[in-house]
Amino acid sequence: MTDPAHSGPILVEIRIGAWLEYSPAAKWFPGMSLRRRKNGETILRGSMPDQAALFGAFRRLQDLAIPLRSVTILPPAAGDVPRAACRRPEFQGDPSMNASNAIPNPPPSGESVLITGCSSGIGLATALYLAAHGVHVLAAVRKEPDAERLRGFRLAGLEPLCPLDMTQPAQIASAATAVKESLARRGREGLYAVVNNAGGGFISPLELMDLGRFRAEMETRVFGPVALLQELLPLVRRARGGRILWTATAGIVAIPNVASIHDCEFAMYGVAQTLHLELSPWNIPSIFIGCGGIRTAAVDRTEAELEVAMREWPREKLDLYARSLRKFQGQLHGFDAHRTEPEQVARTVYAALAAAKPKRKYLVGFQARPMSLLPLLPQSVLDGIFKRRV
Ligand SMILES: NC(=O)c1ccc[n+]([C@@H]2O[C@H](COP(=O)([O-])OP(=O)(O)OC[C@H]3O[C@@H](n4cnc5c(N)ncnc54)[C@H](OP(=O)(O)O)[C@@H]3O)[C@@H](O)[C@H]2O)c1
Repeated sequence: MTDPAHSGPILVEIRIGAWLEYSPAAKWFPGMSLRRRKNGETILRGSMPDQAALFGAFRRLQDLAIPLRSVTILPPAAGDVPRAACRRPEFQGDPSMNASNAIPNPPPSGESVLITGCSSGIGLATALYLAAHGVHVLAAVRKEPDAERLRGFRLAGLEPLCPLDMTQPAQIASAATAVKESLARRGREGLYAVVNNAGGGFISPLELMDLGRFRAEMETRVFGPVALLQELLPLVRRARGGRILWTATAGIVAIPNVASIHDCEFAMYGVAQTLHLELSPWNIPSIFIGCGGIRTAAVDRTEAELEVAMREWPREKLDLYARSLRKFQGQLHGFDAHRTEPEQVARTVYAALAAAKPKRKYLVGFQARPMSLLPLLPQSVLDGIFKRRV
């Protein structure tokens, strides 16, 4: 397969709804010219190393809530021609793919793919990456401002689907209807893939666990995806090569303090494996995107939430777990420094979608490979490793 990620440098003009001149964000666009406009916008113009770098910068802008107004991909020789002549109406896929060098419409290019949890992190990076490579992406988010931000990217194939909260059966049913309508508008019958990505998770020992949040996580990662797939599988069956993807931790084992993530993944894993078998008559595989440490908003969020929780938990209970939690925080800090950018996950998802014979599991991100070996160890060895963490 040709890897479209290696598209090389691209010349772009980016319009941002803020003055970047003195902002630290300017350093994400090294070597680009920067023009401040009276209406409060900044126009950046120049070359980015590749699409992954471009999307990485977009994601960081989003993290800082700096609005992205438009992106225009310019032909490589744009410096020599008048700007108006080289402007394309909007960002419509891989700029290196033109009529002469494009691989002839390989899957998933031109196919429709639904991704849940596209407001940030892995979901957002994947939605942008796939849409830039010609995929019709139904990018599900919970909140309208997130849908609006997705529209702001002006990617032709990027279609926000909102609201889709995976804990809300009514929203799941409406979203499924919206997917069917969208496909019908495009004259399509099949949905090529569903990427089950939405998920939160938080740090807490089970004895102190907020059960409402734990239940919501189970809904988000287990029951919600089942409900969604009950609605959408007829469409996936109609697609040639249809498949279901699940983003999860590279090696699912019990780890103290992260039951809300790993225990939900145990359940999700079971569901995915069962589906794989049940859907085998139609050759619809369940594929794991096994993630190591990925740098997303979830990292800071879970740590900040833990600090708040530690102030709110009853003192006598907290005292029982404070040592283990502090140890855990220390380990997280060491780990966080090495996390991989979510664009790498996006490329891996693309590979899983493009493969004619996809693997059951793809690994991506910091320490994904060693993590993936953990479930192979005897339970007594795992107990030994993780008891030392409490
Ligand atoms: N980051 C890692 O190192 C890592 C490693 C292994 C697995 N994963 C998994 O990868 C997935 C994405 O994580 P991330 O790191 O990209 O985190 P993130 O940036 O926090 O993104 C999580 C996404 O899920 C959405 N979401 C959460 N609860 C939802 C619900 N009930 N219904 C619908 N959407 C919901 C969030 O939407 P809102 O913005 O509306 O909250 C957000 O769009 C998660 O399932 C996570 O467990 C991540």
